[in-house]
Amino acid sequence: MSDTITIKKPFDAHVHLRRGAMLRAVTPITAERFASAIVMPNTEPPIDTVEMAAEYKKEILAAVPVGNSFEPLMTLYLTKNLTPAEIEKGVGNIHGVKSYPYGATTNSQWGYRSILEAKDVLKKMEEVGMPLLLHGEVHLNEHNEEEDPYDGERLFITDILPRLLDAYPRLKVSLEHMSSASAVDFMEKNGKEGQLVATITPTHLLYDRRQAFSGGYRPLIHMKPLVKTSADRERVRDIAKKGLPFISAGTDSAPHPEGKKFSSCCAFGTFTSPVAVEVYTQIFDELGCLDKLENFLSINGPRFYGVEPSKETITLVKKDWQTTDPVVTDEGVNLWPICNTVHGLGNETIHWQIAK
Ligand code: DOR
Ligand code: ZN
Repeated sequence: MSDTITIKKPFDAHVHLRRGAMLRAVTPITAERFASAIVMPNTEPPIDTVEMAAEYKKEILAAVPVGNSFEPLMTLYLTKNLTPAEIEKGVGNIHGVKSYPYGATTNSQWGYRSILEAKDVLKKMEEVGMPLLLHGEVHLNEHNEEEDPYDGERLFITDILPRLLDAYPRLKVSLEHMSSASAVDFMEKNGKEGQLVATITPTHLLYDRRQAFSGGYRPLIHMKPLVKTSADRERVRDIAKKGLPFISAGTDSAPHPEGKKFSSCCAFGTFTSPVAVEVYTQIFDELGCLDKLENFLSINGPRFYGVEPSKETITLVKKDWQTTDPVVTDEGVNLWPICNTVHGLGNETIHWQIAK
């Protein structure tokens, strides 16, 4: 069995880099490990114009270490202010439009209740080939009642997604952070390279809901979509293992200040970027499919977004390590990654390391 692997530098198809001090703290972490990334627009205020995306990109690039060629690929938030004209204006500079169901997660208050309401924008996106990035959960039903959060993804997959794909057959769609057997079943049947793709987080590969409540409530693995049953996690692992060209890594690295994670109302979001590449490698090793790792981490994502996979490489070695410290912003705020020995599940050991 191999204990070292070299792959093209990864592509993160889903990352939250935030703004200000948090952005300055987490951008170098992503830039060291990923050649490029699809940057989520759910900042405050949301990024919903081409001009705002350009400013946001500048702020990110200013935080990239000198000599590092990291490329942030920008997205727009599907707010009610986003117009077909803005979509047209974004062609060439904007790599996707992100839909958040109203109320479902962090900064989703600007989203539509249902993606099906955004008709004119979706038509334009289909026409110009702009990908739609889906937070695929039903949070509020048509009577504006909250659904069971463990069931939101299944409801989206069985009710909303088929109607969306029927209404816009040429729309490019990425189903983000698959967490359930329903999502995996749907993608196994309907996924198509360049057309209907999906991403997987390290969190949904690593954990199930027993760990989310192991010994008490575990804020660091609290995210939307919620981590689900072990059977769901097995199905997510199954599809990763198949090496399908329409499945790729999206870390959904979503840092929150310590005060918002360890509070009476824990913020949704798992900070994964400091360990994501290593955790993906570890799981692919456990599944006996390290030969599929490079496509998953470094090839399938860029192909969907029409960019070249990286020409740089990274090497990983099979060697145990632990993450012990928080990332600290220049304003002194602690950001705790998953798997850490202090607030993780306890003494988690990661079995692969990026070679220095
Ligand atoms: O857990 C999550 N956190 N899910 C999301 O969809 C948003 C993200 C965030 O921005 O913190
Ligand atoms: Zn996200």
